[in-house]
Amino acid sequence: MGEYRIAAIGGDGIGPEVVEAGVEVLNAVAEKDGGFSLKVETFPWGGDYYRKHGVMMPEDGVETLKPFDAIYFGSAGDPNIPDHITLWGLRLKICQTLDQYANVRPSRLLPGIDGPLKNVGPDDLDWVIVRENSEGEYAGVGGRVHTGLAEEVGMDVAVFTRAGVERIQRFALELARSRPRKKLTLVTKSNAQRHGMVFWDDVFEVVRKDFPDVETDKMLVDAMTTRMVLKPQSLDTIVATNLHADVLSDLAAALTGSLGIAPTANLRPERDFPSMFEPIHGSAFDIIGKGVANPIGCFWSGVMLLEHLGEPAAAKRLMAAVERVTGAREAVSPDLGGNATTRQVTDAVLAAVRGAND
Ligand code: IPM
Ligand code: MG
Repeated sequence: MGEYRIAAIGGDGIGPEVVEAGVEVLNAVAEKDGGFSLKVETFPWGGDYYRKHGVMMPEDGVETLKPFDAIYFGSAGDPNIPDHITLWGLRLKICQTLDQYANVRPSRLLPGIDGPLKNVGPDDLDWVIVRENSEGEYAGVGGRVHTGLAEEVGMDVAVFTRAGVERIQRFALELARSRPRKKLTLVTKSNAQRHGMVFWDDVFEVVRKDFPDVETDKMLVDAMTTRMVLKPQSLDTIVATNLHADVLSDLAAALTGSLGIAPTANLRPERDFPSMFEPIHGSAFDIIGKGVANPIGCFWSGVMLLEHLGEPAAAKRLMAAVERVTGAREAVSPDLGGNATTRQVTDAVLAAVRGAND
């Protein structure tokens, strides 16, 4: 029987609460499946660790993660520590050092969950956003000069490399090809950003030739927001830069009912380093410790984790359990208009996993 080593990093805010629930559910799926087990090791990295040690994770933290089969992550962000420290000291450090360059964000209207769009049913909104996750606007290149003076300058330089652009576009084309509609939309802003974004368009013209069976089109990011709202049926797989996809994926999550259900995979497709799976929602300081965080984003991220491990039957079982619970509206968390606690939603999904005979 296979055993997978999972590193669990709850991080900050509601992160630890949802990851704990996620680990419970993943173990239940493994037990039910019987073909594999999970060995989970938990790392207490994040804001509290920073208060004690002055760093978000130990110096050799990323090295420690390398032998794991996958990383299950909660959230990074603390009301008393500047965001750029929590982000760059933990999540981005892991993503960038392990070169998890493909950030994959599916959005779907789950049964029983109403999105804000009128006359849009489950079949009308089924997208996967592929976010470049290693460079672009998040490259960290830039600086500040003349600090505090009237002439002060702040610069963030977006970095696009041929290797970086080509690999994410290729990844997105392959993903689009694996989906029934075989359709990919490239999002840029090449009318205004005439260097890096035109470069994205140029690389795409070359790479897409290797995928004649994938239907492609292009959108400017501003027009893309209206298309997502007005013609959701016209989209399937979407590829965009780090920042553009960051913005579009929040919109996508909101259009499917709640940020609380949306999942993410930070993939290292070459598999020489582990990939990382996390809910898209942040640390949500306002509901810390209240036991009402919606764990579904974390469960769906767990589905992606199982898929990545090569356990498609278990992944399917977990997704079906989540959809059974949302569909029955038996345990609805406050973000979705109900009053169920994290525990109640978790118990409902556990029961659905254990009770399923398929
Ligand atoms: C996300 C988040 C992060 C990002 C934040 C927390 C910095 O918004 O995962 O989408 O921008 O990458
Ligand atoms: Mg975001």
